[in-house]
Amino acid sequence: MTQNIYDNPAFFEGYATLDRSIKGLDGAPEWSSMQKLLPPLKGKTVVDLGCGYGWFCRYARDQGAANVLGLDVSVKMLEKAQEMTTGAGIEYRREDLEQLQLEAQSVDLFYSSLALHYLENIPALFATLYQTLVPGGMLVFSAEHPIYTAPLQQGWLSDQNGQKSWPVNHYQQ
Ligand SMILES: C[S@@+](CC[C@H](N)C(=O)[O-])C[C@H]1O[C@@H](n2cnc3c(N)ncnc32)[C@H](O)[C@@H]1O
Repeated sequence: MTQNIYDNPAFFEGYATLDRSIKGLDGAPEWSSMQKLLPPLKGKTVVDLGCGYGWFCRYARDQGAANVLGLDVSVKMLEKAQEMTTGAGIEYRREDLEQLQLEAQSVDLFYSSLALHYLENIPALFATLYQTLVPGGMLVFSAEHPIYTAPLQQGWLSDQNGQKSWPVNHYQQ
């Protein structure tokens, strides 16, 4: 079954304290690199995979995208996105990216930041995205580095001097 940790109230509250939640795209360390990869958005049909609070959806609309669709599996994230969005031009929809089906050749740009590492079946999603993109369309994405996601038990260790380390195992997998 697909994980949906962002609907866990404690996790959701913790996430709200992160810079990316408070400051938006400028608080997201990957944004300046991702922004450089983006094509011009004016008139484009854009889909944000795992849109969270919808920061990128609003950016794309403000850059003149014709249609913006924000997809997320978390009801709480989508409620927050809707609450933070005024005006027209963006649709938020609950979708599990593991099951995504979209109309063929209907999207100019898929954008996704720090969401795809949650998925079990990336090849199935990429096949869908390939079918859904118009010729010359793009997928621009970031994913969390496996140094964080590989360990079976994720958490800091502290030694007797308070020196912290992050143990990594299962990296090859
Ligand atoms: C770290 S947050 C990033 C949110 C947003 N992209 C950003 O950069 O601010 C990861 C998001 O991916 C969503 N997500 C994780 N697994 C998903 C899935 N299977 N289908 C749809 N969304 C998913 C989560 O609910 C969460 O909103």
